[in-house]
Amino acid sequence: MLCIAEANRRAALGHDAVREAFFGERGLSELELHLVYLRATRQDDPETPYKNIVALDDNGAVLHHVGYGRDVPAGESLLLDAGATYLAYCSDITRTWVKPRGESGATFKGLVDAMEEMQKGLCASITSGHKYEALHDASHRGVSKILSEAGLVKASAEETDEKGISRAFYPHGLGHSLGLQCHDVGCATVKPRADNPFLRNTSVIEPKQVFTIEPGLYFIDGLLAELRRGPHGALVDWTAVEALSRYGGIRIEDDVLVTEGGIHNMTRELLPRGGGGA
Ligand code: GLY
Ligand code: MN
Repeated sequence: MLCIAEANRRAALGHDAVREAFFGERGLSELELHLVYLRATRQDDPETPYKNIVALDDNGAVLHHVGYGRDVPAGESLLLDAGATYLAYCSDITRTWVKPRGESGATFKGLVDAMEEMQKGLCASITSGHKYEALHDASHRGVSKILSEAGLVKASAEETDEKGISRAFYPHGLGHSLGLQCHDVGCATVKPRADNPFLRNTSVIEPKQVFTIEPGLYFIDGLLAELRRGPHGALVDWTAVEALSRYGGIRIEDDVLVTEGGIHNMTRELLPRGGGGA
């Protein structure tokens, strides 16, 4: 646990430096932001626990975007998923920042703020003895509520969840165990339910487990095209979705240690904000 906490401290230096650079006067490319992160964490690229994901604008919709753009784009949103190692133990942290311009910028910032509240609520609800998969299900109800309240889906939160519409916007699992590997092995000894194929943590939550909590909401062309063609396509406000697609997506990820009474969030004590505006 102490090693993962130290890996979080190191990664937090990089997240702070990149956030400051992103909101600075001069626009930076993804490659420059990646180098800012490496410099602040004193890591060479192969020393990071996984390739940094530095995604500006619509690249945020690519879940593992690791090709760093050399040009400076509009730079209205940044999804940074980057960790550090300490004595071989890993941290794995994601933050999403936005410089909101115009109506769609304000809507996207509203989505980031809502995801931030939802992610914090999930962290606060972690209880030993409960299944991690139930938390994953709760995260889908949360994303469904956000999609419904923002008017992106013209259905109640309950209907959005029941019809599985959130799965086109949030296609990955809520998180995974963390330790000597970024996707560690301890919490995935049984298969998830068939409707949660990408969930990497299927454990019953117990003290001393360390795992990530990383819900997301993205505008991924291929998945949205499939949703549009399918039986629930008419429930989506496609004009609004198209206006938001240039922001790519949102993910907010913390590393938590389960304790007897709840959790110790090793990330938030260093990086209190999961994302948002400057
Ligand atoms: N941060 C990389 C991942 O969880 O896949
Ligand atoms: Mn992760």
